[in-house]
Amino acid sequence: MSELARLLRYSRKYTAHLLLSVILMACVGAAQALTVILIGPIFDRVLNPASADAPVLLFTIPVWKHQVFLDSFMPASVHNVWTMVAAGILAVFTIKGLCDYAGNYLVNYVGLSAVTDLRQDVFDRVVHQDAHFFESNSTARVMSSIMNDLEKIQVAMSHILADLLRQSFTAAALLLVVLQTDWKLALGSLTLLPFVLLPTVRLGRRIRRTTRNAQDNAAELNQVLQETLSGHQVVKSFGAEDIESNRFRDRAERLRSSNLRYVAQQAVASPLIEFFAAITIVGLLTYARTQIKGGQMSTGEFTSFVIALLVLYEPVKRLTGIHNIFQQALGASQKVFEYLDRELQVKEEPGAARLARFEKAIVFENVNFRYPTSPEGLVLDHVDLEVKAGEVVALVGPSGAGKTTMANLVPRFYDVTGGAIRIDGKDLRELKMASLRDKISIVAQDTFLFNDTVGANIGYGLRHALPEQVYQAARDALAEEFILRMPEGYGTIIGERGIKLSGGQRQRLAIARALLKNAPILILDEATSHLDTESEVLVQRALQTLMANRTVIVIAHRLSTVRRADKIVVLDRGRIAETGRHDELVNRGGLYQRLYELQFVTSDMNPADPLMNP
Ligand SMILES: Nc1ncnc2c1ncn2[C@@H]1O[C@H](COP(=O)(O)OP(=O)(O)O)[C@@H](O)[C@H]1O
Ligand SMILES: [Mg+2]
Repeated sequence: MSELARLLRYSRKYTAHLLLSVILMACVGAAQALTVILIGPIFDRVLNPASADAPVLLFTIPVWKHQVFLDSFMPASVHNVWTMVAAGILAVFTIKGLCDYAGNYLVNYVGLSAVTDLRQDVFDRVVHQDAHFFESNSTARVMSSIMNDLEKIQVAMSHILADLLRQSFTAAALLLVVLQTDWKLALGSLTLLPFVLLPTVRLGRRIRRTTRNAQDNAAELNQVLQETLSGHQVVKSFGAEDIESNRFRDRAERLRSSNLRYVAQQAVASPLIEFFAAITIVGLLTYARTQIKGGQMSTGEFTSFVIALLVLYEPVKRLTGIHNIFQQALGASQKVFEYLDRELQVKEEPGAARLARFEKAIVFENVNFRYPTSPEGLVLDHVDLEVKAGEVVALVGPSGAGKTTMANLVPRFYDVTGGAIRIDGKDLRELKMASLRDKISIVAQDTFLFNDTVGANIGYGLRHALPEQVYQAARDALAEEFILRMPEGYGTIIGERGIKLSGGQRQRLAIARALLKNAPILILDEATSHLDTESEVLVQRALQTLMANRTVIVIAHRLSTVRRADKIVVLDRGRIAETGRHDELVNRGGLYQRLYELQFVTSDMNPADPLMNP
């Protein structure tokens, strides 16, 4: 129930719209009841030539005993019963149609607006999540929730809310009609209601669970789809189209069965209710027949009554259907609320200070780190390191040593699990996140580019960058030449993840981006390791420009690129094995010397030498 309350809270902003639609739907219900009432006079008066020429009684307001006549709504000149009834029917249907239309629109307005707000909240929450979140929730899963789960909620909120209001008011008005005609009959017909409603409530819980399963299956299907589309090259090169096709079929099949299970559960309600309706109606008709025979009821009243009863069962039936769809929405909302409620693991403290500028040093103090999922303990083990402002510090070591992890701790993608990292003496966790990240540029192995123009990608996140500054950054990053060769220059769309660019071009865009951001701290994580020799030379030159006058933490695969570093830190299985300058380490007989010699024999001491890099 709390989930329902939370969903409804989102419609609170639109209370006025909702109230108006409630009023309109109440009119629809009243109009519905009136049409049923107008059937009485047709039988008693219009079709009965022998009837006395008296005013047409519509209903009596209880308690006051005030009688409402159709005649009072008509001009005084109109006396013909048929004219009055016909005009009444037309008027009632017109009013009902208008109210239904406006009410429907309004309630959908509320539903769609509320769900749009909710979706925005979920997105905002997700976009602020830390790295742990994205590691434990797949893209496809999150996408499926933000789209499919919210779609289900939206259907419930708008469609169903409209129907809920319309049907409840109709049911209430019709109930009044039957009570008015013969309360004993009416009460008789109500005694069966609990029997109808009980099983539907029971069913609701199951529907909720089925929906949860169906949404999970939809997410899995989405996963296959997303992976196949973004990995289409791998799929093709391994000839795995059939494997993917089968995987897709398998997931689609699972989705189909859980959806069918939902249909089976949900479709039970309607025939069940109709069955009870049939029993009630037969019973009541038996009773009514004697009433008519005894002269206590007219044919018209009787017809009105029967039609009211028949029409009354429709809203009851619909209401149980609505109940089911609500259950579906509640099932779908679980995951959505899970995302909304997830506590951030890397979060800003309330009184966090702003880091105005970076002047002195970044210091790792006895830093321990492990990933929540990492099985074998510490990924960083008691690491101490000082990176002074203006220094170039290189992190080297075998693959998996923890270099990337160490670099990722500086912008607080993760928090240390022991010790502390200080910047100018202040613990990172006491700083405003935006002010910290503002001081850091990262150029990594894989640069994410958006499916947008070259210019927009260079200026990403920098709203105030002028075109001139973008061009200058591109020039300094040695990217201008290839940009201008593209069909629309800076306005060229570069495709998903920059697919229309070569690796070297992507890296130079990333460098241009970093140049434009102009942050004092620069992290280079294997920025050139994916590149061919020629691009590497260009990218290296662009990097030299970028590194000038900055504090740099550089992780490089090729030791040739770190020779000039002020300090080289050799990491081995999460520990610092050696620290020093190149000349000190290269003959020390430690890990650095081994790595260095290994590279010297195997490949690329001189990246510009074509013989070294075939
Ligand atoms: N997101 C992650 N979750 C769990 N373990 C990780 C994650 N990223 C890296 N690791 C593990 O942490 C260790 C260090 O990884 P990493 O810092 O990427 O090494 P390097 O950059 O030196 O090659 C490796 O054993 C790796 O398997
Ligand atoms: Mg790495």
